[in-house]
Amino acid sequence: MEIRVRRAPRIEAQIKIPGDKSISHRAAMLAALSDGPCTLHNFLSGEDCLQTIAVLRQLGVVIEEKSKSEFLVHGCSGRFHPPKDHLNCGNSGTTMRLISGLLASQPFQSRLTGDASLTRRPMGRIMEPLRQMGAHLKSEGTNDCPPLLVEGNPKLQGITYRLPVASAQVKSAILLAGLLAQGTTRVIQPISTRDHTERMLEHFGVPVTIEGDEISLQTSSLPRACDFDIPGDISSAAFWLVAASAHPGSSVVIKDIGLNSTRTGILSVLLRMGVRLREEELTKGPGEPSGKIEIIGNHLRGTVIGGAEIPNVIDELPVLAVAGALAQGTTVIKDASELRVKESDRLAVVAHHLQAMGAEVIEHPDGMEIHGGRPLKGVRLSSHGDHRIAMAFAIAGLFAEGETLIEDTACVETSYPGFARQLDNIINE
Ligand code: S3P
Repeated sequence: MEIRVRRAPRIEAQIKIPGDKSISHRAAMLAALSDGPCTLHNFLSGEDCLQTIAVLRQLGVVIEEKSKSEFLVHGCSGRFHPPKDHLNCGNSGTTMRLISGLLASQPFQSRLTGDASLTRRPMGRIMEPLRQMGAHLKSEGTNDCPPLLVEGNPKLQGITYRLPVASAQVKSAILLAGLLAQGTTRVIQPISTRDHTERMLEHFGVPVTIEGDEISLQTSSLPRACDFDIPGDISSAAFWLVAASAHPGSSVVIKDIGLNSTRTGILSVLLRMGVRLREEELTKGPGEPSGKIEIIGNHLRGTVIGGAEIPNVIDELPVLAVAGALAQGTTVIKDASELRVKESDRLAVVAHHLQAMGAEVIEHPDGMEIHGGRPLKGVRLSSHGDHRIAMAFAIAGLFAEGETLIEDTACVETSYPGFARQLDNIINE
């Protein structure tokens, strides 16, 4: 599959965004652990989250698909069945890391596999704390990469663990394991990361104590069955936010979008770059805050993105780098070496692709420096099987002379089914 894009005139659109990927994974997992039926509304029916559903079914959880975006999960009160086959996590790092946390307390062994990209992603970061809790984990790949063997221990022990990397996936794997462990499980994060797991645990009736960057859970408490409404994914909205931002006079309105402050860093970055923005929080929770964003484009200026802001914009950095290339002045992305271990080496791929389009970019070990404002030209680019690369460069193509062709775009289905159709609608509106 491929996406072809040409320079687009001013855009003006109201856009509906599919459900949040991170929240959909967690909702399915907590519902599966709970003690009864839970309906999940606006569930993301992207491949990554469907992979989580498939893995949970292999573990004996009954899940009914009521519609494309509504799933009824019958919680199994924390008791999964041994899988008959390996658990294929597809392209999804979140599935593999969080499910490992769930499996850490189960009295059987599972083998977790994934596609070529997932097989290159580091799992040592979850293996170490889960081993300290008493589970047995072994990597069959090189450098602690998948496939992964997880042999659970029903006598799992809570630990206090200081995260060596600011990762919400690692934090969540430990907290999910902690749900069925004895004693207190405490995670200390170096800087704050998305807090969907903590919020959802509370929504499912599990008491969580949060003191600064320290999160703790008391001994074995199962989630209580309840329903959950999943807001739109701000990481998917990011593509339209940048498409409108970089064009003076363009505007985009996005409703029912997640506005969790651990995820809205992109809005602060775009404000610094000069856009006009209105954010209205309409639902505060319990659960997740959501509302409406309206953005009006402008002549963008460069900015610095780094430090504690990075986890909050980690998935948006490819498209923010595109915004940097369209801005006047220099945009610096730093402290972002985690981007090298995503679905692709996003620092190398983004720097390469922007250069191929004519931008002036210097790649650094932990980021890049983009000297914006040079005209972009349409070229043929590979997605490297990475959904966010494919979509970020489709947006870049809207500002380039000639045709931009992105190859190998089936990966977009992992997080944003319908992206290409929506792109067509928006530019032809
Ligand atoms: C995610 C956390 C982030 C993010 C990923 C989803 C999550 O990864 O990049 O797309 O759902 O917890 P890390 O935890 O590796 O930073």
